[in-house]
Amino acid sequence: MPDFQLFLSDAVDWLRTLDDQSVDLLITDPPYESLEKHRSVGTTTRLKISKASSNAWFEIFPNARFDELFQEIHRVLSKNSHFYLFCDPETMFLAKPAAERSGFKFWKPLIWDKKKIGMGYHYRARYENILFFEKGKKKLNDLGIADVIEVPKVFRGYPTEKPVEVSEILIRQSSEIGEVVADPFLGSGSVGVAALRLDRSFWGNDLSSEALALARSRLIKEKER
Ligand SMILES: C[S@@+](CC[C@H](N)C(=O)[O-])C[C@H]1O[C@@H](n2cnc3c(N)ncnc32)[C@H](O)[C@@H]1O
Repeated sequence: MPDFQLFLSDAVDWLRTLDDQSVDLLITDPPYESLEKHRSVGTTTRLKISKASSNAWFEIFPNARFDELFQEIHRVLSKNSHFYLFCDPETMFLAKPAAERSGFKFWKPLIWDKKKIGMGYHYRARYENILFFEKGKKKLNDLGIADVIEVPKVFRGYPTEKPVEVSEILIRQSSEIGEVVADPFLGSGSVGVAALRLDRSFWGNDLSSEALALARSRLIKEKER
């Protein structure tokens, strides 16, 4: 019976506690330095006091730590597996080579089309990237799925909460029933909800106890459905 386990730790420290090749699929969404940049230009005052500002809620994960993060992700993933990284269009230029240095093959950035425009001065943001990496050789389950995923963004959720439906597509594509899906920066637990919904087990971690409490209540509800 698929179940979940949650941990309160730094992402890299937590990954170091996992055995080699113990995870079948990893999907994650770290809080990038680029969030800070948006705080330090222009819209800032509004952002600082806005509920929509992620920075009011959580710590930033420095770009300088990408190598140690991706090395650990590569180590814990099974021999032939996929890794998806939610990423903004600026940070992806740093994340891609760092993950390649850790041994991943980069396939392409998927586009998550949020169906509605958001903030920004230089063309307002309507999409995010999901970088698609491979360890070893693994085929996608459905070769007919497009590289643009159209799902409306979550309204008034946890800061930068991702829709469960986006993770459901990735999990169906890259894992089987009963396998282990992990997220070292779980936030509100949307990857975990998708994993349980699709009868996969879920291992999640976050530095914030608020995130963990929220994720735990969502995952318990999902198991009771
Ligand atoms: C962008 S949010 C994840 C949102 C999530 N995908 C969702 O749908 O709700 C990033 C999360 O990383 C956590 N975090 C920040 N620094 C961390 C670290 N060093 N290790 C683990 N988690 C960290 C934050 O507390 C936050 O919940």
